[in-house]
Amino acid sequence: MDNIVKVGLLGLGTVGSGVFKTLSNFDNVEVTKISVSNINKKRNIEGLSQEILTTDSMSIVNNSDIDIIVEVIGGINPAFDLITTAIKNKKHIVTANKELIAKHGEEIFELAKKFNVSVLYEAAVAGGIPIIMPIKMALAGNKISKIAGILNGTTNFILTKMTNEKADFEPILKEAQELGYAEADPTGDIQGYDAAYKIAILASLAFGKRIDSSLIYREGIDNISAVDIEYADDMGYKIKLIALAQITENDKVDVRVHPMFVSKKLPIAYIDGVLNAIYLKGHPVGEVMFSGPGAGEFPTASSVVGDILALAEEIPYTDNPLPMLKCKHEEKAEQLDIKHTENKYYIRVSAQNTPGVIGDLGCICGRNKINLSSIFQKGILADGSARVVLLTEPSKEEAVQKAVEEMNAHSQVKQVMNVIRVMD
Ligand SMILES: NC(=O)c1ccc[n+]([C@@H]2O[C@H](COP(=O)([O-])OP(=O)(O)OC[C@H]3O[C@@H](n4cnc5c(N)ncnc54)[C@H](OP(=O)(O)O)[C@@H]3O)[C@@H](O)[C@H]2O)c1
Repeated sequence: MDNIVKVGLLGLGTVGSGVFKTLSNFDNVEVTKISVSNINKKRNIEGLSQEILTTDSMSIVNNSDIDIIVEVIGGINPAFDLITTAIKNKKHIVTANKELIAKHGEEIFELAKKFNVSVLYEAAVAGGIPIIMPIKMALAGNKISKIAGILNGTTNFILTKMTNEKADFEPILKEAQELGYAEADPTGDIQGYDAAYKIAILASLAFGKRIDSSLIYREGIDNISAVDIEYADDMGYKIKLIALAQITENDKVDVRVHPMFVSKKLPIAYIDGVLNAIYLKGHPVGEVMFSGPGAGEFPTASSVVGDILALAEEIPYTDNPLPMLKCKHEEKAEQLDIKHTENKYYIRVSAQNTPGVIGDLGCICGRNKINLSSIFQKGILADGSARVVLLTEPSKEEAVQKAVEEMNAHSQVKQVMNVIRVMD
């Protein structure tokens, strides 16, 4: 029997190159065809023969000699058509495409079930950190109740640099773009879309219910300033973009992405730079945290190649490889609206430096049933205005939104400058 498993690679960019180079160390797998967008591009890849390159990805997914299709092009089109065609041709799929899995996972997994093939996507969440297979296999006996992740390296790099250099967002974003850590159009990272796709995937797996990524509440990091970071530090916190997913008492699913004050008592507060981390709470395991490189050529290739080899070990012997890694859940999650969540909050207010303002802000909170753990004034600015900082006890989001509205309407308040949820 020919036990060499044939791979068709769609895409030879950052991840594709790492996959090709890493696979050259294994003799049970052979990359027989690779599709690219520009066939004339100079590629310094040892052992790459120009003959196996094509711009016709469809010819690869329709090639009857190929067993596994590895999609590392990214985006929705043509990735969706290519993957669904490959599945109909009974090919197993390995992809790093979080956007595609988060938005079209349901159609893809239904189709994969119908044609009895596997779709593996370890690299789609947190690059080199093994998290999909651990949730599906090693942690399969758990009831997972909470996940909190730092799932985007670009935003973590920016927030870490803002913290270390006491700098504001804009100049650090520019520096990150110059260093190649942020894209020319950074919207997907900065506004939390990328982290939202990833937490949608993780929450679906962990809770065994389908999550609609378009319903995930999302706030970016562009409203975070050096002042917020300084106050966070004074109060024992660091600011991180957190992707959160938790099961509520009435079995709803609370999934969101937004910046948080993270207590310095928590290990996740120390995940800095481009690193990613995933904290997970479950029964019977308790609390676990995974951390490591969330992106990059070789860390991401590590996850893609792990999926390829897992399939390659079994394909020669069975028509049903890796049954535990197949998607089994079909029920849709009931997703909690952000206004029904409960959090602690940091609220920064710019107010006139007049007697009674702090008292009035306290009264607004009291009227809205928000208990404060502290309220204080942080100096007077050159224009005579005062910075007032409030820290609340756990409070209803709806009540906090109403209180913020009332604060903004107060004659002595210039503006509520920021509201950031707190994780202790
Ligand atoms: N980069 C990371 O660190 C990382 C981490 C985790 C997950 N991912 C995911 O991995 C995927 C790939 O990311 P990447 O960073 O490797 O992207 P990339 O560097 O932009 O590479 C994309 C590759 O796809 C090829 N391509 C583009 N359109 C094509 C088409 N229509 N037909 C055939 N080939 C086409 C490009 O060809 P040319 O080479 O000719 O331009 C290039 O080789 C994305 O889904 C991304 O989200 C990336």
